[in-house]
Amino acid sequence: MTDSSRTPGPRKASERSKITTASLREMKAAGERIAALTAYDHLLAGILDRAGIDVILVGDSVATVMQGRDTTVPVTMDQMVYHCELVGRATERALVVGDMPFLSYQVSTEDALRNAGRLLKEGLAEAVKIEGGRQYAKTVSALVSAGIPVMGHLGLTPQSIHQFGSYKARGVDAEERNRILADAKALEDAGACAMVLEKVPAELGESVQQAVDIPVIGIGAGPNVDGQILVTHDLLGLFTRFRPRFARRYLELADEIQGAIGRYCDDVQSGDFPSADESY
Ligand code: KIV
Repeated sequence: MTDSSRTPGPRKASERSKITTASLREMKAAGERIAALTAYDHLLAGILDRAGIDVILVGDSVATVMQGRDTTVPVTMDQMVYHCELVGRATERALVVGDMPFLSYQVSTEDALRNAGRLLKEGLAEAVKIEGGRQYAKTVSALVSAGIPVMGHLGLTPQSIHQFGSYKARGVDAEERNRILADAKALEDAGACAMVLEKVPAELGESVQQAVDIPVIGIGAGPNVDGQILVTHDLLGLFTRFRPRFARRYLELADEIQGAIGRYCDDVQSGDFPSADESY
């Protein structure tokens, strides 16, 4: 649902200067919603930052969106550091969060510290995101003690796709609902600065939002959370391999680009391009 009449530029939150993990908490306390998106490259990250986005996540979704993989599992630590650094250099105001890829934090706390440290030192990230709840509480508190802010990720956690067996909504039955609520509390207690909550019933989104004081940023978690995150390439209509119900499209860029390239091919073939003005 595109509203082209909306004046671009700073929203209320943008009146704040640099967004930090502290600003995210203040925003929750003030009832100000957090707008977050993904980016993997310098060009797009700069555009998002200038548009007033609060959080840029360098997501491991880079695997499915940019690398043409079926899941997020194969993306490597080196690749995440590379993409983070591109985004970090382009971003002035947004908080940059680097995603910890599969097996970069699950094996040991030491591994997690070393890898998360790389995202901050080499990748210029200001926080890291890990998938999972109680089972990583110790890891989260070790990272936080080392000065590394951590964003959790609950609900549908795509790195566990081979365990889940599908991308269907999580937290639908009472048992899993209670587990997600307990995980959210455990992440908060371990010192996480915020969490992503993916693909759960809206009513569970609201319960998690109320259960914790740290911001809950939803993706397919309904409207009653503290902010929303989407994959930018979904929002722009650039990624078309599948279309999650929660991903509102603001543009149909893949069609636009294909049309433009078709017109360029026609112009080259007909000799219309280049014109005299485009020649020396
Ligand atoms: O990797 C990613 O893009 C994510 C978002 C979907 C939250 O984790």
